Amino acid sequence: MKPKQIAIFGSTGSIGKNALRVLDALGAGYEIVALSAHSSVELLAEQARKFKPRFVAVTNADYVEPLRKLLGDLDVEILAGPDGLTEIAQLDEVDIVLTAVVGVAGLSAALAAAKNGKILAAANKESLVVAGELLRRTAKENGAAVLPVDSEHSAIFQAMQAGSRQEVSKIILTASGGPFRKATAEDIQNVTVQQALCHPVWDMGPKVTIDSATMVNKACEVIAAHWLFDMPVEKIEVLVHPESIIHSLVEFVDGSVIAQLGLPDMCLPIQYALTYPERVAGIAERLRLDEIGKLTFEKPDLEKFRALALGFEVARMGGTGPAVFNAANEVAVQEFLAGRIKFVNIVELIENCVGKHNVKRRVSLEELLEADAWARREVSECLKAKKS
Ligand SMILES: NC(=O)c1ccc[n+]([C@@H]2O[C@H](COP(=O)([O-])OP(=O)(O)OC[C@H]3O[C@@H](n4cnc5c(N)ncnc54)[C@H](OP(=O)(O)O)[C@@H]3O)[C@@H](O)[C@H]2O)c1
Repeated sequence: MKPKQIAIFGSTGSIGKNALRVLDALGAGYEIVALSAHSSVELLAEQARKFKPRFVAVTNADYVEPLRKLLGDLDVEILAGPDGLTEIAQLDEVDIVLTAVVGVAGLSAALAAAKNGKILAAANKESLVVAGELLRRTAKENGAAVLPVDSEHSAIFQAMQAGSRQEVSKIILTASGGPFRKATAEDIQNVTVQQALCHPVWDMGPKVTIDSATMVNKACEVIAAHWLFDMPVEKIEVLVHPESIIHSLVEFVDGSVIAQLGLPDMCLPIQYALTYPERVAGIAERLRLDEIGKLTFEKPDLEKFRALALGFEVARMGGTGPAVFNAANEVAVQEFLAGRIKFVNIVELIENCVGKHNVKRRVSLEELLEADAWARREVSECLKAKKS
């Protein structure tokens, strides 16, 4: 059988590197057609030498010359700028597009994959938050499949297979609770970047790690789950489960609850999205519940983690609401990581921005991108006003 041809966008990030480990172990049956990075050209060049893709893309065009120098002797086509990803997503030879880019920057490539009838292995959460409805519709119209990579959505996707869509009564997303689960509202006032980047369970890129600390990440998962599984927001719950062994659960109308379990390792959900509908042996370490001993659960504290409450509200709002929520968060997280604002300011900035926004419903891509740009300006102006 012809090997499946895979393009990995964001191959130098946490998900991208894990995907390469998974594919390396899967071996024959899968070929890497394309890889991309934003600016980590040394690592991208190393990956290109090992996996020999036909294309490499560097989305920050300033880095294309250094990349050309690094790969001068290799038979590979180099593409520069964000359009490189959309070009690759349209290639006939590409079967699967794995979007492991961080931020809304992943949206155009995800849409291109959906428009071109590809299998979209969607790790990039922000594109599902901003344009989940549009992505789902585009995929449906063009015979594309959107397969979740995020561990929680993958768990729901797997558990859903135990019954029909009509038999599902609710979905329950689990959350580790992040590094500040036990912190008081007062403790959180002065947390440092280093503390916020120290996730108790998952090893991830910096943006999603901060999102986990604020629980914006879980809010994004609620919004994404609403679109991915066509599930009313009222039928989505969040349950804090600090051990992160149960990756999420689906409750059926008869009261049966089906969960998917595994060690907190992204290799398993990545692999399932790549091999679906098959399951094959892979590199994921086996779960030994006797070694884990005990699994615990608690309700999320919506007063302490206001971003999660806001996420539910924004999911209900729909239209441009999630795009504004996401863009305000992207800017605020960048500011926090650069040491220019406090941790608590992240959620304050999002709340302020969402509060000022007049939501538009039934929106086009252009309107979603306008809302994104508006929110970025709004947060920047708010920060300038605070400084002066
Ligand atoms: N990490 C996880 O375990 C995890 C779990 C579930 C979902 N996700 C989702 O997966 C996505 C990736 O997360 P991650 O943790 O892998 O992030 P990451 O480690 O920060 O990696 C991000 C990747 O995107 C590239 N990139 C950065 N800015 C870009 C831009 N403007 N345009 C195109 N590419 C850009 C980076 O290239 P450079 O290396 O050159 O900067 C890198 O390859 C996020 O949406 C996240 O929410 C991640």
